[in-house]
Amino acid sequence: MKTNRNSFIGVFDSGVGGLTLLPALQFILPHEQFLYVSDDAHAPYGGKSKEEITERCNIVVQSLIDKGCKIIIVACNTATTNAIETLRATYSIPFIGIEPAIKPAALKSKTKVVGVLATQGTLSSALFAKTSAAFTQDILVIEQIGSGLVEAIETGSLDNPKLTKLVRSYINPMLEQEMDTLVLGCTHYPFLLPLLKKILPSNIQIIDSAEAVAKQTHRILEKNQLICQTKETGNIRYFSSAKNSTLMRFIPKETEILSLTSNLF
Ligand code: DGL
Repeated sequence: MKTNRNSFIGVFDSGVGGLTLLPALQFILPHEQFLYVSDDAHAPYGGKSKEEITERCNIVVQSLIDKGCKIIIVACNTATTNAIETLRATYSIPFIGIEPAIKPAALKSKTKVVGVLATQGTLSSALFAKTSAAFTQDILVIEQIGSGLVEAIETGSLDNPKLTKLVRSYINPMLEQEMDTLVLGCTHYPFLLPLLKKILPSNIQIIDSAEAVAKQTHRILEKNQLICQTKETGNIRYFSSAKNSTLMRFIPKETEILSLTSNLF
């Protein structure tokens, strides 16, 4: 489909995680129209192979292109680290990805111990290994797979004893090794910020990539002369691959959630 400056910005994740990027995106790009896809019929991506993740990304991306997107934000660390190279090689529109913010964390850490909480798919990816090696020569990086966190967050219950125990079991070993900076390497995890702030000592810095992604999206839109020209406030439309999407636990009541396969035109 032919697109122009006023076409949509596509945003997708395996589930509700990418929603944590939307406030920063809407703040920096208030007039843009967003299409958000939750691929929750196939979530989580974290334990899937690179091939499986790439296959899902291709399906979601093709559907966003069919809906008329001018740019796509891969709002999922697991999808970015496993599939963005293939996506960029396959489609001609620009892609913005998200990766664990290791570089800013390494620069901020005083103890030189950085914790990275992310999915198995992200931590085992070649892209993560490359970024980590490039910026952490003098840093101890403690990698922790957040098993079960994405599934727990998708339920919408973000503060309960079971989840607190699970989060503590991941965080405490990092604290014992004097971590002072924690990287949230999965877009679902910012939903745990209130819980993390209760658990973590106040000197621990928590880093996520939402603002960096929003700024990068602005830069790329500007570079490609794709910033929209309208002055009205933009909105977000939601799509899901699941019948009963977990999105409805996270977005305002009565908001319509369309099927991933539905077309806008
Ligand atoms: N939000 C995705 C990420 O950033 C979650 C991955 C998953 O579905 O396991 O990695």
